[in-house]
Amino acid sequence: MTGAAGPALAAGHGTGEKGDPLPVLRHIVEAQQFDRASMARIFAVAREMEQVVQHYGSNILNRRVMATLFYEPSTRTRLSFESAMRRLGGEVITTESAQEFSSAAKGETLEDTIRIVGGYADIIVLRHFESDASRRAASVSSVPVISAGDGPGQHPTQALLDVYTIEREIGRLDGISIALVGDLANGRTVRSLCYLLAKFDSPRIYFVAPEVVRMRGDIKGYLDRHGIRWEESDDLGAVAGEVDVIYQTRIQRERFGDRVQEYQQARGHYIVDRAILERMSADAIVMHPLPRVDEITPDVDQDPRAAYFRQAHNGLYVRMALLRMILAGP
Ligand code: NCD
Repeated sequence: MTGAAGPALAAGHGTGEKGDPLPVLRHIVEAQQFDRASMARIFAVAREMEQVVQHYGSNILNRRVMATLFYEPSTRTRLSFESAMRRLGGEVITTESAQEFSSAAKGETLEDTIRIVGGYADIIVLRHFESDASRRAASVSSVPVISAGDGPGQHPTQALLDVYTIEREIGRLDGISIALVGDLANGRTVRSLCYLLAKFDSPRIYFVAPEVVRMRGDIKGYLDRHGIRWEESDDLGAVAGEVDVIYQTRIQRERFGDRVQEYQQARGHYIVDRAILERMSADAIVMHPLPRVDEITPDVDQDPRAAYFRQAHNGLYVRMALLRMILAGP
């Protein structure tokens, strides 16, 4: 493996569908590093991975080792990465609760941990509680680093699987109208998703959030600079009738610390229930990165428009695609 600090997408070999050179995928630290062409390639490989899982199997990552280093809780992200690696024939070494059980507990810096783990693994999947952790890790790492969520910052692989899900479910990515609902200030998935949506033609984004957790100015500024139409609304019922996708999110309790009152002000406002479903069009969908608490009622699950469990399954295919492309070439 080559040295670290280069760009996440370094120029290199590989050929796009139209014969254009595709950049080689290396670190994944933020959603902005992807464009339409790289997403199209990842999604094509993810489709292939669906076939691999359902029919052929693969050993393409035989003898390669992935380390998952998780400093924050996770079910889907860690297990889908680990399953993805194993389904491609690779091996996994892991430390969950890394803050408690890794040498971080003894005072080791993230940078030192990454330098060491890079000697044991061919790729590192990192979830951390600080917003710039993956970038810092990538800058010292001798092997590729994939962000699995950086505090309240970003969650780029979640956003990729979200866009993949929108394409699979709605059948297109241009002209999508979407409501991002819930904790937009602290939710890293919606932040990354906005960066990706901005790559497509004429998306229309509605932000529906309690006052205390509105979408932050950096994302709004980015959308403005890219000519993307967005608006804020406090009426989920009205917005439900306008959109292809309702993307619901959990109020991120762990980001409030001892601001209990603020958390109480944020929770319980916007619930997706049968009444909201009734306002949605027949071919619209409900997404959620999960876990949910109480923001989607369980009676929504039976509706075919409830796409969140399918969305979580898509995470496996997209993560298989990413691991294969990073470790075995485009
Ligand atoms: C999300 C996360 O960790 O940011 N979960 C996930 O990765 N699917 C969303 C959340 O925790 O609310």
